[in-house]
Amino acid sequence: MQRSIRLAPSLLSADFSRLDREIESVQEAGADLLHIDVMDGHFVPNITIGPFIVEAIKRAARIPLDVHLMISEPAKFVRQFLDAGADSLNFHIETAPHPQAIIEKIRKHGAKAGLVLSPETPAETLLDHLGSVDQVLVMTVNPGFGGQKLIPECVEKVRTIARAAPGLEIEVDGGINIDTVPEVVSAGANVLVAGSAIFGKEDRAAAIAAMRRAAATALARQSEHAKQQ
Ligand code: DX5
Ligand code: ZN
Repeated sequence: MQRSIRLAPSLLSADFSRLDREIESVQEAGADLLHIDVMDGHFVPNITIGPFIVEAIKRAARIPLDVHLMISEPAKFVRQFLDAGADSLNFHIETAPHPQAIIEKIRKHGAKAGLVLSPETPAETLLDHLGSVDQVLVMTVNPGFGGQKLIPECVEKVRTIARAAPGLEIEVDGGINIDTVPEVVSAGANVLVAGSAIFGKEDRAAAIAAMRRAAATALARQSEHAKQQ
């Protein structure tokens, strides 16, 4: 069966003075999820949004909210983001070396639990937890800012995780655009987060459609290649 590819526009690159229209524009354009970057100015050198804004986004959105916590003490805030309406909640393994309790709390609430890997963290760090999470988010840039270039070495980690846990949702985040979609999809990613490559474009529907086409081509090539083996 072919993997289904889902696109998650990252609100970080949206125009926050017209957030409801920005959300509507990507929903109409066929986005599958809304990716929301939470930064605390401590784990990363930037501050973005808190649970209060997530709750407002929840009221404006029809598609699931995929919340990415880039904060030093995720355990302290998990409850608030779940109550605010996160449908999936991702936190960094670097901030929670013993993540089991947080994973259980998220799943008990009925949300999906995701572990995130920063670029410098090896994939091996989370191999023990692959059986208990719903998804893994592989950062393909250093967390903190949108609009950076994908770090090619991170793509290998996607491959390692895909091999270790076939069928697990693997999300990639940072520098994803029409040119980098083929390599991350071929490596095994199936949830593609993109900020500037979608919100930075006037025509969001065209941007999303082009990324889907690039992903479909990469998948088709891969299955063609597999048949020849
Ligand atoms: C970076 C964030 C990303 C960011 C991606 O720390 O986690 O979600 O919005 O932005 P682009 O797609 O522009 O690299
Ligand atoms: Zn993110």
